[in-house]
Amino acid sequence: MTGKLEIDDIKVGAVMEATFLANPVSDSGFRFRATHLDGKRAPKVVLCDDARVRLGVPCMVRILSLTKPDRDDRGAIEVEFVRSQEFKLEGVYLDPIVAKKLQVALESGLNILLDGPQGCGKTVLARTIAKQLGFEFVFFNCGAVVEATDFLATIHVRASESGSPVTDFVKTEILLALEQAGDNPQRRYLVFLDEFNRCQESARNALMPALDSTRRVFHPIKNAFLPIADNVQFIAAVNRGSEFSGTFGIDAAQLDRFAPLQMDYPPAEEETKLLASRHPELGKGLIEEIVAIANAVRRAPELRASLSVRATEEVCVYLKHPLFEGDQQRMLGEVLKSSFCGRFSGRFDDLGSDAGAAWTVVQKALREKT
Ligand SMILES: Nc1ncnc2c1ncn2[C@@H]1O[C@H](COP(=O)(O)OP(=O)(O)OP(=O)(O)O)[C@@H](O)[C@H]1O
Ligand SMILES: [Mg+2]
Repeated sequence: MTGKLEIDDIKVGAVMEATFLANPVSDSGFRFRATHLDGKRAPKVVLCDDARVRLGVPCMVRILSLTKPDRDDRGAIEVEFVRSQEFKLEGVYLDPIVAKKLQVALESGLNILLDGPQGCGKTVLARTIAKQLGFEFVFFNCGAVVEATDFLATIHVRASESGSPVTDFVKTEILLALEQAGDNPQRRYLVFLDEFNRCQESARNALMPALDSTRRVFHPIKNAFLPIADNVQFIAAVNRGSEFSGTFGIDAAQLDRFAPLQMDYPPAEEETKLLASRHPELGKGLIEEIVAIANAVRRAPELRASLSVRATEEVCVYLKHPLFEGDQQRMLGEVLKSSFCGRFSGRFDDLGSDAGAAWTVVQKALREKT
């Protein structure tokens, strides 16, 4: 819904929907400011100061007063909080039940563990939450962590003026954010620990006190504990499964510090919608076919690894290109050979390998279509 509301549309006592962000005017007495009511541009800024307001999450509010109705350049609409609405994340598909759990976990400040197969949208979900709900996003790839201190600082050795080696500690994005969060209570920080199970368990132990009610970490530069402010939220992502090499198990004590949420590939209809919105040049029927073949491969019991949304997206990128677009149906098989089968070990023409098994599934699905 778009459009503009007039002063006369705003009735004291009416309940309307609003989505607040932090009020940039810090001394106004109102922490939250919105510009729209019921999806339409409000004639004046909408102000609220109720602690239950969550930035970026739509909520229902009651109109309390309207100041300076006759001036275009001044005044405000003051409202009171009634209740939260369910948030809708644009551009990512999330199972509706998982979405509800996610909202509760975010509103309650729980640490969240996103658990799902490769390329099912864990990273894009975390980024989208941060962007749409007004968090500062701190991306941290745990795959690069070797030692416990790597979460907070890295050691750089350089030559001093006299030539002797000097050791510098360089703060990581996490440590910088934890420090900033303490100084900026009005901002919210989302620390995303990507590939959380790709670092050694012993290194992860460094974060344990950050993730429980202790809420502090040992500051390796100041040699003191740094408390973690309430405006910091942690989300970690793992992909568990026997097919992944280089991953480490997560022990029960670490798992217990998170609210685990299971993700999976979007249902065929939703994956088709996602791809169709990103690749409008391709016909819906062709995208449906690509997704149906991907799902046949994903369901094949003989294949241990799976196919991500990256794979289906890659097929779209090829087929819409002028080099392929004239002959999409014939080229589909060729593209799937590399974009689908190439993601498995072995070769498509070696029937004994996973890639060969995937190619058998793809060919069967292509035959059934024609
Ligand atoms: N549920 C989804 N909604 C929207 N886009 C998705 C979804 N799942 C996957 N994608 C798309 O697929 C690509 C890969 O997604 P993403 O990087 O978030 O996966 P991931 O689960 O983090 O994978 P990995 O385990 O390999 O890190 C992105 O381009 C993303 O836009
Ligand atoms: Mg990821």
